[in-house]
Amino acid sequence: MLDRMHIGDKTIAPALVCAPMAGITHSAFRRLLADFGGYGALHTEMLSGDALLHEDLARSPFTKRRACEGIVFFQLALSGRENIEAVVGRLASANPGGIDLNLGCPAPDIRKAGAGIALFSDLDRLDSVLARIRGAWNGALTVKCRLGSNPQDWKPAFEERLRVFERHGIHALTVHPRFFKEKLKRTARREHFAWIASRTRIPIIANGDIVSPNQLSGIEGASAVMLGRIAAARPWVFREFSGERVAPDYGGVWEGFCDYVLEDFAPEKAIGRIKEFAAYYSRNFFFGHELYRAAQGARGLDQLRERVRAFLSRNPRTVRTPSFGGV
Ligand SMILES: Cc1cc2nc3c(=O)[nH]c(=O)nc-3n(C[C@H](O)[C@H](O)[C@H](O)COP(=O)(O)O)c2cc1C
Repeated sequence: MLDRMHIGDKTIAPALVCAPMAGITHSAFRRLLADFGGYGALHTEMLSGDALLHEDLARSPFTKRRACEGIVFFQLALSGRENIEAVVGRLASANPGGIDLNLGCPAPDIRKAGAGIALFSDLDRLDSVLARIRGAWNGALTVKCRLGSNPQDWKPAFEERLRVFERHGIHALTVHPRFFKEKLKRTARREHFAWIASRTRIPIIANGDIVSPNQLSGIEGASAVMLGRIAAARPWVFREFSGERVAPDYGGVWEGFCDYVLEDFAPEKAIGRIKEFAAYYSRNFFFGHELYRAAQGARGLDQLRERVRAFLSRNPRTVRTPSFGGV
């Protein structure tokens, strides 16, 4: 099932992709993923349309891309108030693997700006935003959404949106099967993938709480799998999904990641990114809360690196499969 999928003119092989994650899937993290490989495509973090107009796309760690990364989808958060034609034109100049539209972010500031779940909720505006993107971009185009707002009666509204996606030639739809208010709480509702896949010819990318290749039941209707937090904890995880056994060098991965971040970010920005990664990386360890506390409480880059290095040098006991309650 995870052999390959086609998204517009792109072949995604294997059909395994890394999720867009704000604060995580910047250029340095994507470079780390590329060291391991095993995925078919990556995503940037969600990019603000207005900000894109002013970024130096080749230098900004949000948009900078190295050849080793392979296919990278640029994810846009749009409300429709932006000059979408200019935003997409500018993105196109960076030759992305494809464009993904964020329709699932429930963060209050994104919602207030009219993007993410707010755009999903407003059918006319959604229709118009997709038409405008399509008018300016004929490459691979995907959207990522949740189930909706009303757990009792979400299917009619979801189906209406499927028709809009089909009308605008969306090539693939990522579903993170939680409702708007659930953020990352409860378990993702995998039982809905089959129904969604049965209601549209658009290929579905299944996302949400998929952390191990042994736990793929319930996603049979999907054409691909998207991994989020588990990739932040285990950047080699895509190789494990491809059937390989990986014996990670935890210390080496940590040092490599820090070096990559320092190469792409100014030092004052780097520390936040490294701490954010550490929050997920610490989930690999039985006493990961100690690593988490040591990293988050570090006052500067040197102290941060040293504290984590000290923890990892003690050959800490690892967990079989990390879990992500609370992050
Ligand atoms: C730190 C963090 C940042 C995220 N940022 C984005 C984002 O920028 N765009 C988006 O569509 N989803 C974002 N998400 C949601 C993920 O893409 C994914 O849907 C969610 O984490 C569930 O997948 P998982 O259980 O494999 O982590 C974010 C999630 C996390 C944990």
